[in-house]
Parts: sequence; C-alpha cells; structure tokens
Amino acid sequence: MRTLVTGGAGFIGSNFVHLTLDSRPDVEITVLDALTYAGSRASLAGVEDRIELVEGDIADAELVDRLVADHDLVVHFAAESHNDNSLDNPWPFVQTNVVGTFTLLEAVRRHGKRYHHISTDEVYGDLELDDPTRFTEATPYNPSSPYSSTKGASDLLVRAWVRSFGVQATISNCSNNYGPRQHVEKFIPRQITNVIDGVRPKLYGDGLNVRDWIHVDDHNRAVWAIIDRGEIGETYLIGADGEVDNRTVVRDILELMDQGADDYDHVTDRPGHDRRYAIDSTRLRTELGWAPEYPSFREGLAATIEWYRTHEDWWRPMKDATERKYAATQTVVE
Ligand code: NAD
Ligand code: DAU
Repeated sequence: MRTLVTGGAGFIGSNFVHLTLDSRPDVEITVLDALTYAGSRASLAGVEDRIELVEGDIADAELVDRLVADHDLVVHFAAESHNDNSLDNPWPFVQTNVVGTFTLLEAVRRHGKRYHHISTDEVYGDLELDDPTRFTEATPYNPSSPYSSTKGASDLLVRAWVRSFGVQATISNCSNNYGPRQHVEKFIPRQITNVIDGVRPKLYGDGLNVRDWIHVDDHNRAVWAIIDRGEIGETYLIGADGEVDNRTVVRDILELMDQGADDYDHVTDRPGHDRRYAIDSTRLRTELGWAPEYPSFREGLAATIEWYRTHEDWWRPMKDATERKYAATQTVVE
C-alpha cells in the first residue's frame, strides 16, 4: 500500500513512520513535510533509505495533487500543533490546519483515495475537575484556543467532504501524547530537558490542570486499527485512561530523575488554559479491538526520560530558542 504521511518529520508522524516500517512490510511510505521549526530530518534518522521525504507544504495544491494521485492512502498528521504559539500568532494555524486540510481533501476527492485525519480531543473544549463525564464521539465541539478551533474546523471539513462528496475518510481524536521525538516546547520534554540542564521545571498556574496521557506508539497502533477496520465516515476517540494532573507529572519526572519532588516553579498561566481533558475510548476498544500496550504512564515516562538522556544531539539544537521564547512571556509566580 503506497501511503502518504503528512507531517511525518514531526513528533507523532515520525513515530508513525518508524512503527509502520517495523511492523508493516506491505506499506511503502512517502513523507510530505514542510520541515517547519517542529519538523526535523533527524526524526527520520535510520529510515531515510526506506522512505521518500518530500519537503513541501500541504497547502501547495499542485504538489499535493501530484502526490495524492500516486498513493493509495493519505494519513494526515501535519499541523501547527502548539497552543502557546497559537495564542502568540494564530495565522499559521488557520493556513496549515484549515487551508492545508482543505487542499488535501480536494486532492483525495479528485483521485478517490482513502484518507485518515488525525485530530485532537481539544476540539471538545474542557471539563471541570470533578465532572464524572468524559469525552465521547457524541460530545459537541466547543474548542477554546486558536489551535483547537482550527483543528475543529478541519474535522468539520472532513465530515462535510464525506457527506457531500463521498470521500472515503475516517477521523481520530486523541488525547495528549508523550514519547520520543517530541519538541521541547511541549510540557513533558520541556521539563525533562530542564532537569537535565539543572533548571527547575515550570508549571503553569496552580498546576492542577489534568491531561489524559497516552504513549505515542499506542496512539499510532490505534490509527492503524482505524485504517484497517474502521467504518468510513466515522470518528473514533483514542485514549488510554491516563488522566494525571500537571503537578503530579512534574513530581514524577523529578523523582524519576533523582531530584527533590518540590524542586519546581509556578509560572504565569496560559490564557484560556483548558482545565481537564478525559477520553472515553470504549468505541475503539469494543468495535475495533484496540487496547493500549504501555502498562502504565509512569513506565512510559521513565522510558521517555531515558530517550531524552540518550538523544541530547536531537533536542539540544532547539532548546535555547524555545526557552528564550518562553522567557519573554512567562515569569515565576508564588
Ligand atoms: P508536531 O508539531 O510535532 O509536528 C507537526 C509536523 O507537521 C512537523 O513535522 C511540521 O514540519 C509539519 N508541518 C507543519 N506545517 C506544515 C505544512 N504547512 N505542510 C507540511 N508539513 C507541515 O505535531 P504533533 O504533536 O506530532 O501532532 C501531529 C498531529 O497530531 C497534529 O495534527 C495534531 O493536531 C495531532 N494531535 C497531537 C497530539 C499531541 O499530544 N501532540 C494529540 C492529539 C492529536
Ligand atoms: O490534548 C491533545 C493536545 O495535547 C494536542 O492536540 C496538542 O497538539 C498538544 O500540544 C497537547 O496540547 P496541550 O496544550 O495539552 O499540551 P502542552 O504540552 O502544551 O501542555 C500540557 C499541559 O501542561 C497543559 O495543561 C499546559 C501545561 N504546561 C505546559 C508547558 C509547556 C505547563 O504547566 N508548563 C509548561 O512549561
């Protein structure tokens, strides 16, 4: 199966490429990636000879048309993905997440190709800490940030292209991923690399916001389950029952890295900061037989810490610029 992976040089996309080459001999991969600040050839180290990497923009209609025509399946990961950046400058989020997705959908429509759309639980907004409900496929969209609203818009385009034009698409909305090759702007790698550098981890606000963590390989195995067995036109939520508050994550990182559990700072909160995400993945588990393979968040976290300890060459080039950007808007608060 000739598969076009957009955003395959980013965090989840590159892990998808590695996992697929390790487990699916029937799949040939072309990566389409603009190699923005978030994408890197280094994330595809070791597999460069087994894939084709096309450096280009998903909003480049001519390029996308040519590539889609030549593939059987498109798996669309490419996006502007960081909430903090979307608060600073929303435009690239509209361009890549909305116009880029539109461009891909028009090409798969013209050429009648199978399309899987990667999205996020953030399209559903947030939950109170004590709310007993979790997000399901039926939860109404209620996004909070420029990032999540552009992802919501892209999901709605996919639904419309399925209904109006019969495009052969599925959608997945996943919770927070962690694992190797995640940019150091994101919460977990930022704190691990801070500790390696002797810098105290930084918690936004009161640190009690909850995220529902899943290892990136469990996410990507679910994506294959949906491509293989999912029903066309349907949405599947992906989550591994991994709800943890941010303060606990920071304390776990400090403990696993032999530091005092209270050696962290509170910094300026994120404007509009979503309080809690929580996924009910019953549909994926019961209909498609998927289950996470990582036994616990703490074990996955320990493996992730080890990856950053042994891959400083991968993250060091992006660390200083990332921290300089944060320093411009975040200060330590008591
Ligand atoms: P990332 O920022 O690490 O990677 C994004 C990749 O897309 C990069 O390689 C970048 O170069 C590429 N890209 C950006 N704009 C492009 C453009 N215009 N044309 C071509 N390539 C472009 O993001 P990620 O965390 O790997 O997220 C991947 C997808 O998964 C996104 O769609 C995101 O919304 C979704 N998602 C992420 C999470 C998470 O926890 N990280 C959870 C659920 C869903
Ligand atoms: O839920 C899925 C989403 O998860 C994806 O759609 C996004 O692409 C991905 O970036 C992620 O969004 P979050 O905003 O939840 O992730 P982030 O890593 O930015 O932050 C996780 C939590 O940690 C959030 O509550 C903010 C907090 N935080 C973040 C940073 C960078 C801190 O407390 N300190 C930090 O330094």
